[in-house]
Amino acid sequence: MKSAHFTDVSLRVDGTDHTVHVDNRITLLDLLREHLGVTVPKKGCDHGQCGSCTVLLDGRRATTCLTFAVANDGAEVQTAAGLGDQDQLHPVAQAFLEHDGFQCGYCTPGQICSAVGMLDEVKAGSPSHVSDDLKDTAELTDAEIRERMSGNLCRCAAYPNIVDAIQKAAR
Ligand code: FES
Ligand code: FES
Repeated sequence: MKSAHFTDVSLRVDGTDHTVHVDNRITLLDLLREHLGVTVPKKGCDHGQCGSCTVLLDGRRATTCLTFAVANDGAEVQTAAGLGDQDQLHPVAQAFLEHDGFQCGYCTPGQICSAVGMLDEVKAGSPSHVSDDLKDTAELTDAEIRERMSGNLCRCAAYPNIVDAIQKAAR
């Protein structure tokens, strides 16, 4: 049933096009999980605090619980599952595997998307809060990784291995 409170939203998710008629108040995270059955991004806090719902949104990392679905009509969403496949994992996913960058795995899809987005930000020369020189491309020290990944919490505290995995992927 059409209503003023509902809108058609078109998205490309991991290479597949979808158009759904959704309540204007729904978040992108709920659209993905509840309407499209894409459960790779996880709902941890639903308040923008944990990062478990992170995807790449038009190539940049974003927390999907903090953005309305209607604000992203026409967007391209890449989840951690869309970054590679089982035969050929994305280098960041492969590094998480090799370095035990997870325990329960709940935060992992968000960590991987965030790491991929973060490495692109470093490559593009974006400084972080701990960068010594705001004009030079930052050296990817462990402190840089920790700061840049600080929006992604891990309740299992796999942080040392996550940092090692990202260092490996960056190399
Ligand atoms: S569920 Fe989105 S940041 Fe926690
Ligand atoms: S691996 Fe369990 S929350 Fe991160």
